[in-house]
Amino acid sequence: MAEKFYACKASEVAADAATIIKLRNLSVGIFKVKGDFFAMLNVCPHRGAALCEGPVCGTSASTDRHEFRYERRGELVRCAWHGWEFDIRTGEFIVDPKIKARTFPVTVEGDDIFVHA
Ligand code: FES
Repeated sequence: MAEKFYACKASEVAADAATIIKLRNLSVGIFKVKGDFFAMLNVCPHRGAALCEGPVCGTSASTDRHEFRYERRGELVRCAWHGWEFDIRTGEFIVDPKIKARTFPVTVEGDDIFVHA
């Protein structure tokens, strides 16, 4: 059964970067996406980089008119090592959703964020 850990103040989490916390011996990134909070293990499933320290971003999607459109702004984190982009809400690698960064349930009580791990 998951334990509940205090993470940080909601007011400390920016929309454009994770707040990195320690959870037991784990490094975890706390993200804010469109007003909701999410927690992700700060380890990239590709080669183990500090995933949550990469930029919060969107991604470029191709259209059927030989153009690219920038979308999902603020919903993804891009690993600084090789540029893989992960959905902050689910941890899924956007190119292959079978590859996932580990995520944790989050609850918010007032201005306090808790991670369940
Ligand atoms: S280690 Fe993250 S994309 Fe390679």
